[in-house]
Amino acid sequence: MLSLFRSLALLVAALAAIARAVHPVEVRGQDFVDTVTNKRLMIIGVDYQPGGQAGYKPDSKQDALSNGTVCLRDAALLQRLGVNTIRVYNVDPSINHDDCASIFNAVGIYMIIDVNSPLEGESLNRASPSSSYNSAYLTRIFGIVENFKGYPNTLAFFAANEVMNDVGTSKENPPYIRAVQRDLKNYIAKHSTRTIPVGYSAADVRPILEDTWAYFQCAIDGKDDDPTRSDFFGLNSYSWCGGDATYQSAGYDILAAMFSNSTIPVFFSEYGCNKPEGVARVFNEVAALYGKNMTALSGGLVYEYSQEESDFGLATINENTTVSLKKDFDNLQSQYNKLDIKLIQSTNAAATQAKPPKCEESLISDSGFSKNFTIPSPPDGADDLVKNGIKNPTQGKLVEVKQTNVPMAAYGSTGVQIQNLAIKPLQNDESNTPGGETTSPSGTASPSPSPSKKGAAGRAGVGIWGVTVAVLAVVLATL
Ligand SMILES: *[C@@H]1O[C@H](CO)[C@@H](O)[C@H](O)[C@H]1NC(C)=O
Ligand SMILES: *[C@@H]1O[C@H](CO)[C@@H](O)[C@H](O)[C@H]1NC(C)=O
Ligand SMILES: *[C@@H]1O[C@H](CO)[C@@H](O)[C@H](O)[C@H]1NC(C)=O
Ligand SMILES: *[C@@H]1O[C@H](CO)[C@@H](O)[C@H](O)[C@H]1NC(C)=O
Ligand SMILES: *[C@@H]1O[C@H](CO)[C@@H](O)[C@H](O)[C@H]1NC(C)=O
Repeated sequence: MLSLFRSLALLVAALAAIARAVHPVEVRGQDFVDTVTNKRLMIIGVDYQPGGQAGYKPDSKQDALSNGTVCLRDAALLQRLGVNTIRVYNVDPSINHDDCASIFNAVGIYMIIDVNSPLEGESLNRASPSSSYNSAYLTRIFGIVENFKGYPNTLAFFAANEVMNDVGTSKENPPYIRAVQRDLKNYIAKHSTRTIPVGYSAADVRPILEDTWAYFQCAIDGKDDDPTRSDFFGLNSYSWCGGDATYQSAGYDILAAMFSNSTIPVFFSEYGCNKPEGVARVFNEVAALYGKNMTALSGGLVYEYSQEESDFGLATINENTTVSLKKDFDNLQSQYNKLDIKLIQSTNAAATQAKPPKCEESLISDSGFSKNFTIPSPPDGADDLVKNGIKNPTQGKLVEVKQTNVPMAAYGSTGVQIQNLAIKPLQNDESNTPGGETTSPSGTASPSPSPSKKGAAGRAGVGIWGVTVAVLAVVLATL
């Protein structure tokens, strides 16, 4: 009896010890593709910045991926929601992100990382790109590459976000963004064991949107390996507002046509208009975005996980560190549950086979957008940084995920506590998919929870993985 238990326990321990990792993803033409299964990766994602911009506190070594307990809580909820990708805006290159990256990896969630931050010197200054493009800035963004290149679930890097936000800012900035992309891609080629795509996240400013995409997808001198070119294009799209909007009224037909012959993946790097105010979003656009009309696009990321001042949250993070889902979360989950995952993962038969167009002034309209394809040379010191690497980088790596149960409580949209909240590490190395479930429990919460129930959440929710970890601990202790 004991020996049977021991061999079972050892088997479980052996299985648990295998470092599970999502498959690396690469760009092939218009699509993101899983390099092992060759299935298309359609981004089913959520933008993740708990605390908003203020959650980025490099002075106290805190950012959105610095606290494993917080990530465990949010990964458990995002896994149930059905997402396969998060976008994280402001991270610090000197912080250890191993716990958070490993937790998201374990549940099959990729990360798209912005290399910039709103702090002075940590992004291009749209009013003065030439003065902000310097080796101190490059050291920061190369630090982000060093920090995240070792995680298999790092899907991509955003070199810049909404630098062009009107016609005026589209005159001088575009060549500088291509320069930053070049420097990042050269650094990755020299210092990473796998290639990680680099691209731009654009504001939906209509006079310049198509020019922005045309400017970044083209290849200078027609060279496929031109490092200044974007590997993908993100669009922050808020044109679908309210439950009555349609494919046509939201202008999705125009977007589908605009990007139909894109030679790089295009996706919504933010979406989820919050108008009309005061009502939960119904997310009807999900059916359109992942439907047959829009297979040229690679999905999108809903703005955003947590409720912040801007009022776009799917969930509210309470002061006592518990989370309360909003009705928006339920609505998005039910939309995700209706998706045809087979269609989504199948080859994009309509994808263009065209090579990237050669950069020429004629690709750009007369909107005022830059037609200048002379890209600035790297600033002083940059060649050395790219050649020899930055000094003393913090390099992340996957670590064992020991805890699976979420220690704090989370509540559904009606206030009822979600039972057994835990992450469920995936066993097949693939990415997370919608599970057909509803996370918010039915019913309504009792109006005043008795104070003696405080802390009960910490003991609740011992799932199968909790048992496995407990068994593993026992085995290790007895060996
Ligand atoms: C992580 O977050 C939890 C919940 O907010 C908090 O209790 C804990 O102190 C944090 N850990 C660190 C190291 O900051
Ligand atoms: C994309 O298609 C449009 C119209 O369908 C066409 O005008 C444009 O030249 C095409 N662009 C490329 C790069 O093939
Ligand atoms: C697809 O396009 C057609 C024609 O433009 C439109 O009527 C339909 O609603 C679209 N389908 C979805 C799911 O948006
Ligand atoms: C194009 O940009 C380069 C720097 O990238 C600059 O030196 C040059 O003057 C610009 N050309 C025009 C016509 O603005
Ligand atoms: C935490 O705060 C929320 C919101 O104020 C409250 O509903 C919940 O009961 C609290 N939970 C615990 C365990 O203190």
